[in-house]
Amino acid sequence: MVSSTLLPAAIAVLFISIVFYTSPCASFNAKTGGDDFSIRLIHRDSPQSPLYDPTITAADRAKAAAHRSISRLHYFQSLISASSSLMDIAPKLTPDRGEYLMWYHLGTPPVPVYAVADTASNLIWLQCLPCKNCYNQTQPIFDPSKSSTYKQILCDSPPCHEFESVRCQEDGDGCYYGLAYMDGSSSMGVLSSDTLTFEDRMRNNITFPNLAFGCADDNSGSFKGSGVVGLNREPFSLISQLEVTRFSHCMVPPFQDDSGSRMQFGSNALISGGKTPLATDDSTYYYLTLEGISVGNEKLTIPDGIFKVTENNKGGFIIDSGTRFTMLRSEALDELVKVLGEKIKLEQKKESGHIFQLCFVARSFDDLASAPVVTFHFNGTDVVLPQQSTYVDAGDGLWCLAMLPSNDVSVLGNFQQQNLNVGYDLSAKLVSFTPIDCATF
Ligand SMILES: *[C@@H]1O[C@H](CO)[C@@H](O)[C@H](O)[C@H]1NC(C)=O
Ligand SMILES: *[C@@H]1O[C@H](CO)[C@@H](O)[C@H](O)[C@H]1NC(C)=O
Ligand SMILES: *[C@@H]1O[C@H](CO)[C@@H](O)[C@H](O)[C@H]1NC(C)=O
Repeated sequence: MVSSTLLPAAIAVLFISIVFYTSPCASFNAKTGGDDFSIRLIHRDSPQSPLYDPTITAADRAKAAAHRSISRLHYFQSLISASSSLMDIAPKLTPDRGEYLMWYHLGTPPVPVYAVADTASNLIWLQCLPCKNCYNQTQPIFDPSKSSTYKQILCDSPPCHEFESVRCQEDGDGCYYGLAYMDGSSSMGVLSSDTLTFEDRMRNNITFPNLAFGCADDNSGSFKGSGVVGLNREPFSLISQLEVTRFSHCMVPPFQDDSGSRMQFGSNALISGGKTPLATDDSTYYYLTLEGISVGNEKLTIPDGIFKVTENNKGGFIIDSGTRFTMLRSEALDELVKVLGEKIKLEQKKESGHIFQLCFVARSFDDLASAPVVTFHFNGTDVVLPQQSTYVDAGDGLWCLAMLPSNDVSVLGNFQQQNLNVGYDLSAKLVSFTPIDCATF
């Protein structure tokens, strides 16, 4: 818990009412209209990433990714299980557990910003000068005083009147927001608006004036990177502000040149192949209905209902851009480990970090090529995981099942979404999957 001065109700009112709010100071009129666009996604460990560290091995990357996945799961659990506290509303952003980055330009003149693309976050935010507390980032920190189109969302505006009791008395006329995280991290700043520009894959600039974002000047804890682009369905996300009803992404596996990884919005989005309905109208997470899992032709014996969201918001199955490895309820993962262990005739060995549950000794990935495939059965479609999206190189000649246990919510990680076109149709309330070679498509 970071700040007891933040009142969840006030934040909720702000978040809801601001969508309908227009004033000469800050109006939110950014919409895609005909501006459909497609932007590049960069995996954090790709050589093109500002976070790339050439000194660490693939195996260390896999372990670091596993730790990030576990932290993110804890973060989800803390949010989902908090029912009536600050945690329920305030911390819907994600600290640096993100995986895919996107570049954009902000302000006039435009300055480059990179941020984590996060389907489970509700706000665009970045660090801003002058900082009370900022963590180090590789890019210069955004300086709003240098942007002629920057505006603060003002405290005397109707939504901020509700918000005032929270932070306004402390800080002039800026409308302060605060985000607190279970791990003690926090991010606070002033709600603002400015012109945001994406460079699409054809190198055209697509510009959105007056996009609302959080200008964070007081951050503490475990962040990295320069911010987040929230892509869930809450009012302040990029998706809601642009009134995007369709988007899709295709992620290239990391051992290939990942310059083909991208996210497409509007009519550029590809909604095709097998479709499964969104399981709930929850606007924070994209829940799907996972009905079962198979290894080869054998359906696993998994207790009924373990992937369903309960009435008190426990469990469920989320599709997420920001979790690396799929997190499965232990009842399911144990069974999957058991059956794969029986069917794959390779020597098994514990990996030294004891993170992964099932590892095989293999000379190369090819030894696993003939292993039976894992299929996730969603309501309406099956997703067959290619071997490259099932096993990860854990070093020391070990290849490990790239899935980790959860005792609550399950998450489809982005490692398992590689070489799939994943489409979100928010009008039809469905998600689509098509196997695609994202590098060449
Ligand atoms: C941040 O950068 C400054 C200056 O380069 C450096 O002295 C400091 O150790 C860095 N802090 C962290 C946490 O990396
Ligand atoms: C897009 O905007 C960036 C930032 O201002 C600029 O460097 C780039 O040249 C622009 N590209 C085009 C095609 O206008
Ligand atoms: C499966 O999806 C259909 C719509 O495609 C829906 O009517 C049905 O209720 C769903 N079943 C479950 C168990 O969610």
